[in-house]
Amino acid sequence: MSTNEHRKALLRKLSRNLMVSVPMMTVVAVAGFSAGSGAPFGLVPSAEAAQGEAEGEAKGEAEGSAKGEGEAEGRAEGEAEGRAEGEAEGEAEGEAEGEAEGVSASLKKAVRRPEDYTPYQGNVADLRAQGEKLFNDTSLSSNGLACATCHVNGGLYNPTFKNEYPHVVAMGQRDFGMDMVYLDEMVQICMVAPMAAEPLEWGSEELAALTEYSRVEQKKFIDKQ
Ligand code: HEC
Repeated sequence: MSTNEHRKALLRKLSRNLMVSVPMMTVVAVAGFSAGSGAPFGLVPSAEAAQGEAEGEAKGEAEGSAKGEGEAEGRAEGEAEGRAEGEAEGEAEGEAEGEAEGVSASLKKAVRRPEDYTPYQGNVADLRAQGEKLFNDTSLSSNGLACATCHVNGGLYNPTFKNEYPHVVAMGQRDFGMDMVYLDEMVQICMVAPMAAEPLEWGSEELAALTEYSRVEQKKFIDKQ
């Protein structure tokens, strides 16, 4: 993925983050891009870019939330525009750094189960249904992809997917230094690498739903062999 394309993806995401307080079109106009460029497909490049994004976004979001409250009270739009530009630059910088260094330590940590982790508990059938929707939802990524874009008809899975979790996954080992991967960790890896998004909240219903649905995917994958 070219730097320019990635920057556009970041900007699209940024504009979503700001949507609460700034009208979408304002940010789009200021940032000077149009939504809807082609979906980039690089895997490792996007894993690396995701790091930069995470770094850039950490800055952007911190500013965004601190300043966002004022905006809600009805400040002039001009101010919002200035900020949108500043934050976009911050992200672009983060991205440049990220691409030079590969997956960051913080991102490697973010896809690992935290120590005090309690998965969300819910009705399995409901979680699967919700997970199937999320699996097809492009708004989960920053680059226009949905999980299903890659995994439609069981595509792109490696034979390791048949194994019981936790198990070795090439992407986890190569890009994240993980010897073993739990299924929910795999969901997070695909969130931050190919989807170039932030990991889902550990313990969230969304993560549980996507994890449950991935079990359905696994069953289909095994049955197909
Ligand atoms: C750009 C393409 C792409 C997208 C989008 C994507 N993945 Fe993946 N996914 C892959 C690839 C490639 C692999 C194989 C990784 C490997 O075996 O090293 C994989 C593997 C997996 C596996 C199986 C790993 C194993 O145990 O062998 C699961 C589960 C998975 N993805 C879930 C998801 C979920 C959930 C999403 C959406 C949040 C998603 N993927 C989005 C490319 C993608």
